[in-house]
Amino acid sequence: MTTATATEVLSASAARHLLLNMTPNGSFGPDGDDVFVVRRGEGAYVEDSDGRRYIDGLSGLYCCQLGYSYGPEFAEAAERQLRELCFSPLWSASAHPTAIELAERLSRIAPPGIEHTFFCGGGAEAVETAWKLARRYHALRGEPGRTKAIARRGAYHGLTVGTLSFTDDPALREPYGPPAVETRFVSHTNRFRLAPEYLDDELFTSRLLGELEAAVLAEGPETVAMLIAEPVQNRGGCITPPTGYWEGLRALADRYGFLLVADEVITAFGRLGEWFGGDRYGARPDIVTVAKGITAGYAPMGATLVGDRVVEVVNRPGTVLNHGYTFAGHPLSAAIALRNLEIMERDRILDNVRGLQDHLASRMAALAGLPIVGDIRGAGFFYAAELVGDLDGGGFSDTARAALIADLLPRRLREAGLLARVYNRAAPLVQIAPPLISDRPLLDRVADILAACLDEASGRL
Ligand SMILES: Cc1ncc(COP(=O)(O)O)c(C=O)c1O
Repeated sequence: MTTATATEVLSASAARHLLLNMTPNGSFGPDGDDVFVVRRGEGAYVEDSDGRRYIDGLSGLYCCQLGYSYGPEFAEAAERQLRELCFSPLWSASAHPTAIELAERLSRIAPPGIEHTFFCGGGAEAVETAWKLARRYHALRGEPGRTKAIARRGAYHGLTVGTLSFTDDPALREPYGPPAVETRFVSHTNRFRLAPEYLDDELFTSRLLGELEAAVLAEGPETVAMLIAEPVQNRGGCITPPTGYWEGLRALADRYGFLLVADEVITAFGRLGEWFGGDRYGARPDIVTVAKGITAGYAPMGATLVGDRVVEVVNRPGTVLNHGYTFAGHPLSAAIALRNLEIMERDRILDNVRGLQDHLASRMAALAGLPIVGDIRGAGFFYAAELVGDLDGGGFSDTARAALIADLLPRRLREAGLLARVYNRAAPLVQIAPPLISDRPLLDRVADILAACLDEASGRL
């Protein structure tokens, strides 16, 4: 009789008792063969239950800005908070000092004109809050007919029933019936797909803004409540905006009266070398949504940062903000977020990204020479390689897709000790978002592994 290893016991139990997110949970078999059990982390590395180490090239899921070795400091912050006050809600005119301090701190780093924060549990709740605030803002100003949203094709803004409206993926949305919010999708800013013929940004930007303006006019400007966009769109592969795009969004929002929401759930807190990714692109949003990196993954938290123009309306005397979550601004998460901001400043985390981003950019750009790589995009510590296949026009045959994208690439990357994201959708991609504490040798190692794996895949095309 053979004895089950610790990994086998954990995997089997996971398959029996856990419903994993975005996972074919019924396909594991009783032993949970394919469940990847991560047991511990250190620096930029995680270790699985068999003791194998991997570079966490995705920072958890774009969360762990500081990697995994700050546990003792966060534990000290958590212990201090829990000894003082374990819980108190931000409800019915009640607050607690840690949430107050965090909100004040966020106002100091937020984009200009944004001084208020509504806390919640994660990204989707932050986006839903943005939507409800937008609706409330318009209704209070006498425009209740602004019931529609605009989002960008292929974008992901969450999976709750509300945020699914803004997430452009029919496979995720359609099983749950008609969207809660009528949403019009406009082009993202992937020049490789949309406009390789434009050599400069100016034409591309004006084409995109022209399309957006036409969409607003077609819907009826008086019906549009908000536009939501990420500074660099994650889905579709780290899609950066062309010059002038965010300024153009601001101008159109002002012209037609809708609110501009920057979804910074991934791009805030240093991912692009700035506190807020939009700062890099001249974004002047009315509302900013954040989550993930706000606590560097050491606790769950989300937040909606709200600009003065919206606050002036929704805070009119006597107006109740009829929205809330019991655990909004939980003292434990707030204490962790505060400590995270302190550490990021003390250890100059943004400077680390700023100092190394050109190096990472050039290492990534070098991958563009490989036959399977069509485009390299990204900024800061956030990059994607869009892959091109064996068909005319760059697509993949079913055979190549199954062999390379679904199998060889993810397997080889993991064997080489790198956790990266391999998307097997319309545009196959490999994506990285390493912890912001990564040093040059670590980024080189990431790039070397990507190069070796993509080179092998190119050879098999
Ligand atoms: C841009 C963006 N918005 C919203 C969300 C939803 O965040 P959460 O999974 O915390 O609900 C995500 C999650 O990845 C995201 O990337």
